[in-house]
Amino acid sequence: MHVLLLIVLHAALCCATSDNHQINVETLMDNVLVLRVPQSVGGWGDVTLTCGEAYQNQPVFWKRNGEDLNPALRGNEVKIPVRDLNGGNYTCHLGADGQFLNHTVIMIQLGTDNTPVILKEKSPEDGYIHCSAPNYKGSFHCTWTRTKHRSNAAVLLVKAERNLEKITCELSADGSGVHCLDANCPSKEEQHRIFLTVYIHSYSRLEVYTKAFYLREIATPAQPPNLKISNGKLFSWDYPNSWEKPDSYYRLDFQVKLVHHDNSCNSEDYLMHNTTEETKYEVTARSKKYIFCVRAKDKYTHGPWSHWSHCTVNKRTESC
Ligand SMILES: *[C@@H]1O[C@H](CO)[C@@H](O)[C@H](O)[C@H]1NC(C)=O
Ligand SMILES: *[C@@H]1O[C@H](CO)[C@@H](O)[C@H](O)[C@H]1NC(C)=O
Ligand SMILES: *[C@@H]1O[C@H](CO)[C@@H](O)[C@H](O)[C@H]1NC(C)=O
Repeated sequence: MHVLLLIVLHAALCCATSDNHQINVETLMDNVLVLRVPQSVGGWGDVTLTCGEAYQNQPVFWKRNGEDLNPALRGNEVKIPVRDLNGGNYTCHLGADGQFLNHTVIMIQLGTDNTPVILKEKSPEDGYIHCSAPNYKGSFHCTWTRTKHRSNAAVLLVKAERNLEKITCELSADGSGVHCLDANCPSKEEQHRIFLTVYIHSYSRLEVYTKAFYLREIATPAQPPNLKISNGKLFSWDYPNSWEKPDSYYRLDFQVKLVHHDNSCNSEDYLMHNTTEETKYEVTARSKKYIFCVRAKDKYTHGPWSHWSHCTVNKRTESC
């Protein structure tokens, strides 16, 4: 009984417009069909396209990526044989050289055991997408990087939601990130993760990347502002303006570090490091040439560190 039900469901869901039972066809959005296929090489059977009910009795001609097909493809409803990664933008026209009527884009998505090629892994912890939020108010942004050979790849669609509630996102002008705002962001502890899905394509190859996170995992303070030095050894700074208020409740921990004057704050070769809850630190090192570095993170969530702020000290001259 269960088996039968499953078979019926499977048939209804997946094979509506394809003759091949290995693959699955889905309408991702208006005018875009996605074929899920196991690998990049193979004949995937026919996909049926319809120009539109209104054109039932018209002389309809089809083109692929703006070019005539050989042999010519005509009729309101046509069968397109799909193989390998050959999808495309199929347009239908009134008559052989006639007016544009409608279009359907066929995209191909490979099964999950194929390595993605469009985006580059950001880091082992982040995967392909890096997300960050300046506080807990619900605004966050995510970025990704296209691989050198897929720099032409374009984002087709971005979806974000939490507990089935839609979150609005705006794609950046260069297509390498989104800014999102969770308008229903809970002020108490988050119960549900945010799910982000990015659909990106290079020609007909579609890849889908997902990321799931709590804001508390990505909330990253801005670098500590107003870093200054007084009487040659007492450094002080402030809580970032963008951080959640009040400061007394949303506490930060600060890491302070002294590095040699020609090193970066990330250097493992440091003179001293320490952590503090205060927004000041007195340096007792004897060195007269060093860089003072400070960065922040949420005291309670073990979220990510901010970028560093730093001052360069060279004998009598100090620059922050
Ligand atoms: C155009 O084609 C799409 C399928 O890609 C179909 O859903 C839509 O109804 C068609 N538009 C018209 C005006 O027939
Ligand atoms: C497909 O072609 C139509 C008509 O030229 C165009 O409006 C549409 O933007 C194209 N879509 C893509 C994804 O290339
Ligand atoms: C770390 O900082 C605290 C004050 O915030 C200080 O009491 C302590 O001595 C420092 N530790 C080292 C190893 O410098």
